[in-house]
Amino acid sequence: MALHKVLVTGGAGFIGVHTVVELAQAGIEPVIVDNLSRSTVGLVKGAEKITGKKIVFYQFDCTDPAQLREVFREHPDINSVIHFAAYKSVNESVQNPLLYYKNNIDTLLSLLLVMKEYAITNLIFSSSCTVYGQPDEIPVPFKRAESAYGATKQMCERILEDEVRAWSALRVISLRYFNPIGAHPSGLIGELPIGIPSNLVPFITQTAIGKRENLTVFGADYSTPDGSCLRDFIHVVDLAKAHVSALAKLDGLPNHFEAINLGTGVPVSVLNLVKTFIQVTGTSLNYSIGPRREGDIEKVYANVDKAFRLLHWKTQLSIEDALRDAWNWEQKLSHAAH
Ligand code: WQD
Repeated sequence: MALHKVLVTGGAGFIGVHTVVELAQAGIEPVIVDNLSRSTVGLVKGAEKITGKKIVFYQFDCTDPAQLREVFREHPDINSVIHFAAYKSVNESVQNPLLYYKNNIDTLLSLLLVMKEYAITNLIFSSSCTVYGQPDEIPVPFKRAESAYGATKQMCERILEDEVRAWSALRVISLRYFNPIGAHPSGLIGELPIGIPSNLVPFITQTAIGKRENLTVFGADYSTPDGSCLRDFIHVVDLAKAHVSALAKLDGLPNHFEAINLGTGVPVSVLNLVKTFIQVTGTSLNYSIGPRREGDIEKVYANVDKAFRLLHWKTQLSIEDALRDAWNWEQKLSHAAH
């Protein structure tokens, strides 16, 4: 499949904008649609600086089929879509499930409707390891998702599987991210948490730079080697590159729907990550052990065989690289704010 132009919904978001950079650098033209509800146009500008290319950007909400049709009309050479546009905060979804069901399902339904009208048959879906719920071991058949966020990803994958059965030309790869961390080494794009970060690494970097008083490690009484939770932390640039690999493989899929884990396959504990951050950056970090966080999964990490077998992809960057790049980005953000 000649890949020349790809619609990237949610392309101004954390994973989206890093993927836009990798697409452009692979000679594929990205067209971004993003409503900027969870991001800023500054990240699109950062991607333009990194690539040295103008990036086509539309600001609207993907739940509006009429505006999506406009994009396909103006860009008849779009032949694939990468769909990131969705809310992704686990704890926000527990507080406000209806917001998540409405947004995360509607964006996908609206996109599929218009893709069918324009016979666009290649789709990469941004999914999540939260589809596994509390896994006993991975890979497992789905268990009940622990949050509305995870449930929306399970439902979207089910919608996609059913649509692939009904529309035989459609090809879908659903990429199940584990814990994306880090930033582009240029320091021009990275994670933009709005308000108090719920994710670990932005909270660490904001504490190290003095924006937060203290990092609380949520629980050190789990049945893990050092008592803190285990996660599979993957550099966002590795994750972005996997999307370029997946696009290229859509044509040769054994099945027209494939779900693939994206992680390192290596579990790292929260405390180990905190200590690695301190070593790598040479900063001091105020942290203390607190009670467990409601809904947290004790240990989750990827079985990555399928990603290598189907995409010929595996992570190249280390936890140390990701923490160094995250710290560099936090310092750039703080410098820009003053
Ligand atoms: C990681 C660990 C916390 C903050 C994420 C994304 C979700 C999905 C799955 C893609 C946990 C601990 C955190 C803090 C802490 N990814 N922690 N102190 O919950 O694994 O979910 O990965 O879809 O989108 O949210 O990520 O970074 O919130 O937590 O101790 O201040 O860090 O208890 O063990 P989580 P997280």
